[in-house]
Amino acid sequence: MKAFITFEGIEGCGKTTQIRMAGDDLRRRRIPVLVTEEPGGAALGKHIRKLLLNQGECRIDAKAELLLFAAARAQHVQEVILPALAAERVVLCDRFSDATLAYQGFGRGLNLEFIKSLNHFSAAALEPDLTILFDLPVEVGLGRAIDRIARLEGAAREDRFEQEDLAFHRKVRSGYLSLAGEQPGRFRVVDASRDLQAIHQEVRTMIGTVIQYQ
Ligand code: TMP
Repeated sequence: MKAFITFEGIEGCGKTTQIRMAGDDLRRRRIPVLVTEEPGGAALGKHIRKLLLNQGECRIDAKAELLLFAAARAQHVQEVILPALAAERVVLCDRFSDATLAYQGFGRGLNLEFIKSLNHFSAAALEPDLTILFDLPVEVGLGRAIDRIARLEGAAREDRFEQEDLAFHRKVRSGYLSLAGEQPGRFRVVDASRDLQAIHQEVRTMIGTVIQYQ
């Protein structure tokens, strides 16, 4: 039953809530599932996540940022994702290689072809069977993300990317949409401005086309 499904989108698009709901749904159906995230997912990734997402610890150049995301991915793929797929589990991953293209490529302006080959290297050529892109206007997503962050304390805030300006987030959103346009076979775009349950039903149907549980 193995499948590798990634959830992508701009800040505040609701993908983390949706991945949790989708994971619970698969568990209820007794389908072996692993829900994981990038950066994170493996011990090294959790350290890298702190470095990358918390404000003020140290300055991070765009190229260093790219390589840290790639390093976290290399470890995550080897230590967590490939073993889970080998054990015939469904892996739901909150962000993967497309996030690097959208944020470091379209957002920061680093070379897309270079990022594609770095992604291929760090992911050991692993590609998702399905990528669900949660799309919504940048103002709406960022507003939600900033409200959520305001309720958190210190290190839990992880707000380095949310502090980027609207222009940056617009480039990330249009980058994601152009990746989806380039690979319509792998991507499904969801209107993430609707209510939680409607989105969840659509996500279940999409996952059902890959793992055929219906
Ligand atoms: P999250 O908030 O969805 O957990 O994602 C963490 C942040 O890291 C988010 O702002 C997007 C960013 N990111 C990148 O810039 N490049 C990447 O390759 C990944 C995986 C995340």
